[in-house]
Amino acid sequence: MSIVFVSSEVAPWSKTGGLADVCGSLPRELVKRGHRVMVVSPMYKLGKKEDELYHGAFDTCSNTTVGCFDAAHEVGFFHQIYDGVDFVFVKHACYERIGGLYGDSYGVYGDNQFRFTLLSHAACEAPLVIDFGEGKGTYGDEVVFVANDWHAGLVPLLVASKYRPYGTYNNCRTITTIHNIMHQGTEPNTTFNNLGVPSDWYSCLEYQYPEEQRAHELDLGLVVNILKGAIATSDRVLTVSEGYAQEIQTPLGGKGLEVMLQERSHRLDGVVNGIDMDEWNPMTDPYTDAPFDVSDFSGKLECKRGLQREMGFEVRDDVPLMGFIGRLDWQKGPDLIRDAIHELMNEDVQLVMLGSGLPELEEFMQWAEGTYSEKFRGWVGFSVAMSHRITAGCDILLMPSRFEPCGLNQLYAMRYGTLPIGHATGGLNDTITRANPYADPDPQLAVAAAVDESDLGPGTGWLFTGMDTRTFYNCVSNACKLYHENPEMWRAMQIQAMSQDLSWYNAALKWEKVFEWAKIDPPHCEP
Ligand code: GLC
Repeated sequence: MSIVFVSSEVAPWSKTGGLADVCGSLPRELVKRGHRVMVVSPMYKLGKKEDELYHGAFDTCSNTTVGCFDAAHEVGFFHQIYDGVDFVFVKHACYERIGGLYGDSYGVYGDNQFRFTLLSHAACEAPLVIDFGEGKGTYGDEVVFVANDWHAGLVPLLVASKYRPYGTYNNCRTITTIHNIMHQGTEPNTTFNNLGVPSDWYSCLEYQYPEEQRAHELDLGLVVNILKGAIATSDRVLTVSEGYAQEIQTPLGGKGLEVMLQERSHRLDGVVNGIDMDEWNPMTDPYTDAPFDVSDFSGKLECKRGLQREMGFEVRDDVPLMGFIGRLDWQKGPDLIRDAIHELMNEDVQLVMLGSGLPELEEFMQWAEGTYSEKFRGWVGFSVAMSHRITAGCDILLMPSRFEPCGLNQLYAMRYGTLPIGHATGGLNDTITRANPYADPDPQLAVAAAVDESDLGPGTGWLFTGMDTRTFYNCVSNACKLYHENPEMWRAMQIQAMSQDLSWYNAALKWEKVFEWAKIDPPHCEP
């Protein structure tokens, strides 16, 4: 099968979150399984470093012109093969900024609608116009598009409205993948004409459903909602965990799109993400102090001691070292750590937080570091090396996310025998097996439980239900109690966590099913 991923970010070239990891690693697994896979993403130029990043990409000389925002825009395509995947970077001045991928210190860029409209148009042209040479030719129009999040959401809409009615992409299918439904790509309806979508298709964005079924005020037609257009026109919708697929059909989780998703639930699936097993391998990790695996945990202890030294903590083997890695925003719930900080610091623990985001939370980290200097470190910013060292060196990873479509950090943590404490939501709920005090701490049984999910075994972490400080703190306190009182059970949990198959292999099999299901129904081609 020929598959085209479209994404606003792709690791290792551009990344603000898990979306980039998924678009960088799943395609490689699909190539291993015999598919031809292209990933289309912007060619960012944010400074010198990024220039160097794309040094392996070559100009395909397949420039094309796309029509949107009342003009014709020329885009270039650069190409790099990596692990058999065709990574295609769309070159246009709008991706060349001093700042981040989506904004700078003044806020989000004012022209993001343009930047991602352009990306989607370019991505629709890529399989048709880029000749990969050496007898490989173009991808042609029998492809499956995977449009990730709102940034790529115009792809299914353009395929349905601009291409199929004119005989192109009739055998193509489109899948919208939702990594985070919070961001929908909404702008005033006066911008509709910018999108380069035929005007009779506006109904598809906003008016497709009878009034009583319309989801929220966006449906008054005041707003263009790109994600909604994508959901309405794609052949299937996929989210990054089964739990999240359910949650987005509820008023709390659907962010206004729940009714529409309920109606399309027969075309909605969830598949938990896999992880890049090479990048996150405790035996070969270049950032950590010592290698380790389930047969010998001495390297993990070295990693812990190394991290304690680096953080300026007392080097002690018998204290639970906890970590938090993530954006300091509402979704990830670091405010829960802030609100429980006195209780947490009353325990015999050490805590390191890595992340940046809301100023008040960055300030909190600085304050906590001053107040609890013996046992708290807050690292404002992001560092790949630090994230690996925290993942490897900690005993516990805190993930109090309010919602978490999948979450990758808990998967990385489990692979390193670091037990996650998560809020029982979305992918955290799907991937963390609750600690089971009645289990037999026999390591063999823990391995068996990791393979056969019907056998719960000792568990792989903790889940708390309810976003309040007391529940959260109680959960942390329980984990610490187990750490101090029952090291055999702790070790058995680590073994179960590390013995799980978290690779993309299983997830890719499920994705293939979704591709097959997408082929069954006739394609969408009328407004
Ligand atoms: C988004 C979600 C996260 C998920 C990631 C990759 O960042 O917030 O939960 O793991 O996408 O799918």
